[in-house]
Order: sequence, then C-alpha cells, then structure tokens
Amino acid sequence: MVNLEPLVISAPFGNYIQPAGTTPTLGTFTALRRGGRPAAFGRAVLTMRYYRRLQAWVNRIGLRNPGIESVVKRPPHGRPLAEAIVSVHGFTDDEWWLLLNRITALAPLAVELNISCPNVGELSWPADLFRRAVDTGTPVIVKVPPIRYEAMAESAVGAGVSWLHATNTLPVAKGGMSGAPLKPLALDAVQKLRATFGPAVGIIGGGGIRCPGDIAEYAHAGADRFAVGTYAIRPGAVRHDAWVADIRSAARRRASTRDLASS
Ligand SMILES: Cc1cc2nc3c(=O)[nH]c(=O)nc-3n(C[C@H](O)[C@H](O)[C@H](O)COP(=O)(O)O)c2cc1C
Repeated sequence: MVNLEPLVISAPFGNYIQPAGTTPTLGTFTALRRGGRPAAFGRAVLTMRYYRRLQAWVNRIGLRNPGIESVVKRPPHGRPLAEAIVSVHGFTDDEWWLLLNRITALAPLAVELNISCPNVGELSWPADLFRRAVDTGTPVIVKVPPIRYEAMAESAVGAGVSWLHATNTLPVAKGGMSGAPLKPLALDAVQKLRATFGPAVGIIGGGGIRCPGDIAEYAHAGADRFAVGTYAIRPGAVRHDAWVADIRSAARRRASTRDLASS
C-alpha cells in the first residue's frame, strides 16, 4: 500500500500543486457544488489577502468547489486518487453520508474529514460520523482547528480514527488566518494532541511551515508528517521545485515510520 509521504500539500493547494515526493490533498469537496465554477488558481488567490509584515494570509474562500460528483465522474488530472488525500465537508448528516459513500467509490489514499473550516458558519457533524467513516475501510484523517479542538479529537480517536491533521486556519474577524502567525498555535495543538493520545494517533502537523527549521519544530512537538499550504503560493513562489526540495528533504529526515493504515 502507498503510504503518506513525509510532506503533505494541504487542501486546496494539493488541487493545483503536486510536487514529486509529496502527498497532495484534493478538495475540500462538498456534496453540492459551491460558488460557481471550480476555482481557478488565480481566482482562488484573489479571495485572499496577504499581510506581508506578518507573513500571514486571511481568506474567506468558504470551500468553493465543483462538488463531489464531478470527481466521481471525472477524476482530477494529476496524481492518481490512490496517492492523494481527498478532503470532504458535509453541511447536513445526509451530505456526510453521501460523501462517505462516494469516497469509498473513489478509493483514495485517505479521506480527510474537514470539520474545521472557519468560513462556512456553524460546524456540525453526525454523532456517529467518525465511526462510520472508519467503517468504510478507507484510512481516515480528521482535520482540526487550532483552538477548541479537544472534544472533536477525543471523539474522533475514541471512534477509531488513527490520524489527525493539526491544524486548519485560525478563525479571525475577516476569515481564516494561515501562515506564520498560525504556527505557535498549531505547534501547541500538535504537542497537546501528542501528550493526550501518546502513540495511539498519527499527527500531520502544519500551519506556517516555511523552512526546514519549522519542520524540526513540528517533529519536536510530535508530528509524524508535515503539511504545507500557503507557503506554496506566497508572492514570488513561482518555481515550486526550488522551495519544495529543502522542505521535503527536512520532512524526509524528520517523518516517523508510522503507517497510514496502522492504528
Ligand atoms: C485560501 C485558503 C483556502 C483553504 N481551503 C481549505 C480547504 O478547502 N480545506 C481545508 O481543509 N483547509 C483549507 N485551508 C487551510 C489549509 O489547508 C491549511 O490547513 C492552513 O492554511 C494552514 O497551513 P499554512 O499556514 O501552511 O497555509 C485553506 C487555506 C487557505 C489560505
């Protein structure tokens, strides 16, 4: 079985950027299409604001995507789904069940349950979502926010979920904040999740990763794998092979040998 690469490209960036030796995250897909046509990379970037001094991004994209059926009908270009994580989010119980159903049909490397997007209003999910996701047999990752993640992580791990992704963006007044200012919070979440669950879970750590030193900090906090998002699209980041090489080799040195399928 293909394993998670040491470096993961977070959603939605994995839709656009799939460097060799990384695992892209596709999506986040919802049951229905949201926000018109699929967001072209350029248009997605227009919905974000970069705060240069903070090296922070704030976005309000709110899961714009073509809907899960489009993926079922025509798998996206690029890496085969068996080598990609597919991220999903449901707005109702029925949507979650439909998404789980469709995910099984797609047979991705793993499904990521995105229950932490700050741009879609109140987040809710069925009480037995985690157990039913685990029962599909597809490896499950639950992506948590940088704050108030404790109860959701407990409930996910209690239901048999063996991987967590910490973290999504930080909810702020104008949307979700990513980049450098997120890093202390995300690192803290990784450390606390590791302290709480010990070796029982795999953790993908991400938020503000920009250099090999950041990877070392996430490894020290207890992450098994490392995720990069907005660094890939910062102003001036034209050639992905250049920045990826450094971060990817640091991730290779620091990743654990934990298997995606092991619990
Ligand atoms: C414009 C934008 C869109 C995002 N959309 C998603 C999404 O669809 N699903 C998701 O799980 N996370 C989404 N995120 C969060 C990223 O995947 C990542 O977890 C977050 O940005 C922190 O990592 P970073 O600091 O490396 O960017 C989005 C972030 C940004 C900036």
